[in-house]
Amino acid sequence: MSDFGEASGVRHQFSDRLFHWVMAACIFLLGGTAFLPIIGYKFDWLPIHWWTGMVLVAAILFHLYRVFAVHGIGRMLPVADDVRETVQVALNRSTEGLQPAKYDAFQKSYHWTAAITVLATVVTGVIMLAKIDTTFWKRDPSLLPEPVWGVIYVIHGLGAMLLLFLVILHIYFSLIPSHRTYLTSMILGHGPELARKD
Ligand code: HEM
Ligand code: HEM
Repeated sequence: MSDFGEASGVRHQFSDRLFHWVMAACIFLLGGTAFLPIIGYKFDWLPIHWWTGMVLVAAILFHLYRVFAVHGIGRMLPVADDVRETVQVALNRSTEGLQPAKYDAFQKSYHWTAAITVLATVVTGVIMLAKIDTTFWKRDPSLLPEPVWGVIYVIHGLGAMLLLFLVILHIYFSLIPSHRTYLTSMILGHGPELARKD
């Protein structure tokens, strides 16, 4: 066992890889069902959209269980060397001598930006369920005053658009050849334990 508490050479355990890909499939389905009708492909998108949202809620709860019961939150928290790393990369200087870390400054920034955006979109989406008829309940828009509904719809829409941008950026960086070992680690498990070496 390494001091990261995992078998040496395993970057992402099976459960965490499962979470990543289930969550990613949900984000694609949610984005597809949200944006395709807007650009002209009309279909009965809402049932697929909200059921996928429910699967995403379950996946996020599973991730939170993994974080708080298994991993601990420490490796994803920002530290002073993340700021130094960002400045040094921006100035095109060497990043040698920084504290080693499983996730570098850019991965942490991506994680927290994506997490906050996904959570804001999911929470507003769950509240918006009060506006539709389902097998389980009847719609009740009187739950909230009209201006509050407006704010909720704006957050949901802005979150969805920001996610589109973030996901394109994330996939681009995942596919570039110098990041190949991270891609295989998210598929097969094995990979570098440290993204930032000293
Ligand atoms: C407040 C909520 C969240 C907390 C506290 C949290 C915390 C963490 C932590 C601590 C890790 C690192 C685990 C480790 O390797 O030691 C991690 C990894 C990860 N998180 Fe989150 N996260 C949150 C929400 C999210 C959300 C909403 C998403 C979906 C976009 C997400 C996606 C990921 C992914 C894909 C990984 C890498 C897989 C892994 O190795 O665990 N997280 N998260
Ligand atoms: C085809 C689609 C995708 C590919 C190829 C992909 C690839 C990857 C890879 C290779 C990693 C591991 C990086 C590492 O080991 O540190 C990763 C981590 C992560 N992914 Fe994805 N991903 C995809 C979709 C998504 C989606 C849709 C989201 C949610 C918005 C997401 C959120 C995350 C987060 C938060 C992490 C942890 C932070 C990080 O390590 O960069 N991914 N992804």
